[in-house]
Amino acid sequence: MKVLVSGASSQIGFFLLPRLRQLYCPLWLLSRAGGEQLPESGCAWLPVDLENAADRLRLVRRLADEGDVFILIHLAPLWLLPPLLRDMLAADIRLSRVVALSSTSRLTKINSPVAQERLVAERLARAEQTVVEICSQQKVFWTILRPTLVYGCRRDKNITFIENFVRRFGFFPVAGQAAGLRQPVHADDLAKAITTMIGHPETYNKIYTLAGGETLSYRQMVARVFRGCGRKERIISLPPWLFQALAAMSCFLFRRLSITSGMIRRMNEDLCFDYDDAVKDFGYQPRRFKC
Ligand SMILES: NC(=O)c1ccc[n+]([C@@H]2O[C@H](COP(=O)([O-])OP(=O)(O)OC[C@H]3O[C@@H](n4cnc5c(N)ncnc54)[C@H](OP(=O)(O)O)[C@@H]3O)[C@@H](O)[C@H]2O)c1
Repeated sequence: MKVLVSGASSQIGFFLLPRLRQLYCPLWLLSRAGGEQLPESGCAWLPVDLENAADRLRLVRRLADEGDVFILIHLAPLWLLPPLLRDMLAADIRLSRVVALSSTSRLTKINSPVAQERLVAERLARAEQTVVEICSQQKVFWTILRPTLVYGCRRDKNITFIENFVRRFGFFPVAGQAAGLRQPVHADDLAKAITTMIGHPETYNKIYTLAGGETLSYRQMVARVFRGCGRKERIISLPPWLFQALAAMSCFLFRRLSITSGMIRRMNEDLCFDYDDAVKDFGYQPRRFKC
């Protein structure tokens, strides 16, 4: 069996590939760019834009030439999976297993006041449903994982953003008490979960929410980042309306910055999830948050 990893250059891929290489060889790795960062031995990198039908066709022909059975681990955005699955199955590529990453955003952003965030949640919900339908029809074992806030190799947009801000400015602003609860999950714990569940029948045809091993408030999470950076803790609580106004101004001045009203509101909302099923089914044991 061969393993195809789409979104191989992701932060989860960073931890997953070394684990997979010990178990499966060769690995077929797929992303649009970043091939130079991927491991060379025992791996083949396929530069593919999954949104591009011609690229997908080229990929599928290449896989069909191999004539093997594939395990597909999908780490790229979930809505890119249904067209890939349809193309692979239409080309008679034999798939034995699909493990795909969704997100808890599918649950937490579905009623967001920010249209863009609602759209992400809706796309994830539709993609989850379609993946389940396609795999069930084709008798392919599937597992969908919904992780919460992922960190681990300084490529995420949450913890690393806080860390970079703290290192640069020596303080960090929060809205109100920033009392919303968080469970940051290390990307390597997700990588371990994926390798564990590939051949684990208990996990077939199930959806798991995967959070980190510690629940702490947004404010405590920021404080932990200060400690990790070796900096004196300087967290500045701003009234949410003032935070909102300053964020809007900063986003206007620095076009690459994106701070939505949803993000500001969520600093005081609990985003906590139960992962008992994962503990019971495959011994999921995430670590405590350490930055
Ligand atoms: N980061 C989080 O906090 C978080 C939380 C919950 C769920 N998740 C989910 O977990 C998965 C992995 O997250 P991550 O943070 O590790 O991801 P990431 O670092 O943002 O990487 C995304 C991967 O998908 C690839 N990709 C994106 N668009 C593509 C396209 N059109 N064609 C081919 N490849 C494409 C990227 O490579 P190229 O750009 O080179 O194509 C990259 O390898 C994602 O599905 C994400 O939605 C993440």
